Amino acid sequence: MKQLLFYNFQTGDGLKLGANTSFVYENYSLSAGMSFLALDAVLYLALGLYLDQVLPSGFGVPKPWYFCFKCGKRQQILREDMQPLNDDELAGQDPRNFEPVADALKRQEGEDECLKVRGLVKRFGDKAAVNGTSLTMYKGQIFALLGHNGAGKTTTLSMLTGLLKPTAGRAEVFGLDMFSEMAEVRKILGVCPQHDVLFRNLTPEEHLRLFAAFKGSEPGEIDAQVEQMLVDIDLVDQRNQEARTLSGGQKRKLSVAISMIGNSKVVMLDEPTSGMDTTARRRLWDMLKKNKGDKIVILTTHYMDEADILGDRIAIMSEGDVQCTGSSLFLKKRYGAGYNLVIAKQVREPLPEVDKFIMARLPDAIKLQEVSSEITYQLPSESSSKFKQFFTDFDDNLAALRLRSYSVGITTLEEVFLKIGHGEEVERARDEDGMNLKAQGEKLMNVKPEDLELEEYTISRDGDDGCSAALAGFLDQLQHLSTKKLLTQFRDRQILAVEILFPIILLVCMFAFSKAKFASDSPAVALSVFAYPAQGLWHNEEAILQPSISGNDRSFIDAATFL
Ligand SMILES: Nc1ncnc2c1ncn2[C@@H]1O[C@H](COP(=O)(O)OP(=O)(O)OP(=O)(O)O)[C@@H](O)[C@H]1O
Ligand SMILES: [Mg+2]
Repeated sequence: MKQLLFYNFQTGDGLKLGANTSFVYENYSLSAGMSFLALDAVLYLALGLYLDQVLPSGFGVPKPWYFCFKCGKRQQILREDMQPLNDDELAGQDPRNFEPVADALKRQEGEDECLKVRGLVKRFGDKAAVNGTSLTMYKGQIFALLGHNGAGKTTTLSMLTGLLKPTAGRAEVFGLDMFSEMAEVRKILGVCPQHDVLFRNLTPEEHLRLFAAFKGSEPGEIDAQVEQMLVDIDLVDQRNQEARTLSGGQKRKLSVAISMIGNSKVVMLDEPTSGMDTTARRRLWDMLKKNKGDKIVILTTHYMDEADILGDRIAIMSEGDVQCTGSSLFLKKRYGAGYNLVIAKQVREPLPEVDKFIMARLPDAIKLQEVSSEITYQLPSESSSKFKQFFTDFDDNLAALRLRSYSVGITTLEEVFLKIGHGEEVERARDEDGMNLKAQGEKLMNVKPEDLELEEYTISRDGDDGCSAALAGFLDQLQHLSTKKLLTQFRDRQILAVEILFPIILLVCMFAFSKAKFASDSPAVALSVFAYPAQGLWHNEEAILQPSISGNDRSFIDAATFL
């Protein structure tokens, strides 16, 4: 800066292109300054890129500080040193809750064609959001991950997509370690996060083109892929609309399309159909089924019908761990109460002969309800060997028993979900609530009117009271807003550090420096205009103050400079 000011004085018309930048003043030239600024820019860029890898802000898995010193050969050696992933998915689990997979799928494990997660743990402070999850997901299948709110589904996917660093555990996909080789994994990974992350000012078509290119699609293929995807997810009419103007459901469709486009071999969809209408959901199901062929698709959902229809294998998570895995049928058999037989009667009055007929052939059957002209029985799965004979007899005697028709259905996935983990708690809580409500209801029925003491509430119309009420309301609001402000202020550690700790640290440093010896007052210096180069300082006052002035005149000038 000093150099620039000086240069300004020197030439009289400022610094501009073509100026002599090699002019040296106090061992310092403008060209040297500019070179150092350029060097700074490169250094800061390199430092920024390095720190972004080692200390990622917000999301991301930090790399070791020495990551840039690892060459390809070294990485290869590390890869060979890596222990093979423990294949025991069922370690510490009840094997009855996990359906064994077919041999064709087992082969995929040997050929590294699947995604294996073993002992995955994520702790936030003392809380284990994911607690030793082990899963295997196969190519060509959709793996549905179910679980109550807070079960750990998003946290699991966040770790598998490199957004969160796992506390412990391993994961491999197509033979690549998902935590140390995430850069490679990202080339084949498509992600649809639970909350849409889109570029506000890009259109759906531009998004799809961009991500198809990122995923390595050939330039010639991109057009066709984008067109097909827009049709598949029904966004043709909105193709040129900016993302910020899309509706919630349309944004969701776009997020799913982004995850599926290109060469994504592993697709993770976190609640992809939340906020979509029924038609859009069904369209999306078709698209997923059509495209799952060479991909491993992992999907979390709260829609049981979606998991039932799409999930080739379904896992139910509870409290951060997987409770069971298998096909929809397996889970229904394992956790379901069997089959429901719903009979439609020809008459409304009770028909005890139907009960006798069923109990004689299926003694384990349980009569659930008889409402109007409909009776429902639960038939346990264990009785299934007797079903053939029973239904033959039943069909023959339908008219004689005065019945019109019947239907049989298996337990729904929803019932299975409610039975597992948190679901059981919900059921229990519901029952308890029901009992409590019943008890409360009975208590209230016995209360006499005279026992009720009702507080009196009055709304004053008096002017003074109204005024004081308004003031009280204002003070109340003020108090709550202040409390809210204090709470947010104290919970935001960064703001706390910048606003309170940082100034205190600066003040302490300032006092420490002022007391330090090296900062003690320097010897007094006599100020004089002649301490500066004459031609630079007096450039515009040549007529009055010439450097050639001597003797008494100099003392006059010195005195004038101080005035
Ligand atoms: N950044 C975080 N800090 C602290 N706790 C967290 C954090 N992220 C998640 N959790 C906790 O981890 C648990 C699992 O959360 P997660 O988001 O994985 O649940 P989920 O199964 O995806 O639920 P949902 O169905 O509601 O999306 C929750 O109890 C949540 O409070
Ligand atoms: Mg979630």
